Amino acid sequence: MATTSGTALTDDDMELMRILHDAFRRDAARLARVAQRYGTVDPETHDALLIGWHGFSRSLHHHHTIEDRHIWPALRAKLADRPDDLAVLDDMESEHALIDPALEALERAFDDREVGRDEVAARIDELLTLLAGHLAHEEKDAFPLMRGLLTTQEWAAMNKASMKELPLSELAALGPFIVDGAPPEDVRRILSEFPAPLRLVHRFWWNPRYQRVRRWE
Ligand SMILES: [Fe+2]
Repeated sequence: MATTSGTALTDDDMELMRILHDAFRRDAARLARVAQRYGTVDPETHDALLIGWHGFSRSLHHHHTIEDRHIWPALRAKLADRPDDLAVLDDMESEHALIDPALEALERAFDDREVGRDEVAARIDELLTLLAGHLAHEEKDAFPLMRGLLTTQEWAAMNKASMKELPLSELAALGPFIVDGAPPEDVRRILSEFPAPLRLVHRFWWNPRYQRVRRWE
């Protein structure tokens, strides 16, 4: 597929998205384990669960906001005469529009002490089903559009713009979130994207601080 100008994205560029999706899948598995023991935990474990949950939900919400604000509109502009591909973007947006309320519903369930284990488990199940379907759909149908239509220049500009939209506290947690539990080759790949000064800040400050906090378990 042709790009308007610049160099087309490669599979290696798309690896970053795949690594990020895998970080969401790892947290989805941790959230599924929460469903099994919610309500039987001591207060400190409950706090750890909420810290894990908030990191996951904020990262996911931010990721979807970037896609809705930057990636889908950039693709849409190049797909004006391709209704089937536009339909994929419509699907991406409507799947995001289902996931956000599911995140909010679970947040409310965690906040309400009257809500019991079965309802929390049902909300978690609902969210994880939507998320698993969406990630797989995006990788199958939207990744090829990104790879075929976006240029490395556009990709870099989008990354820069989306980083600017992140508050520093969330930026500081994003790198540690992505590499937490990732295979070593994925960690190396992600860190190679960081500018050298940020890599140092991540290594000596942000990541150790993230690791010191008890989350999920
Ligand atoms: Fe995505």
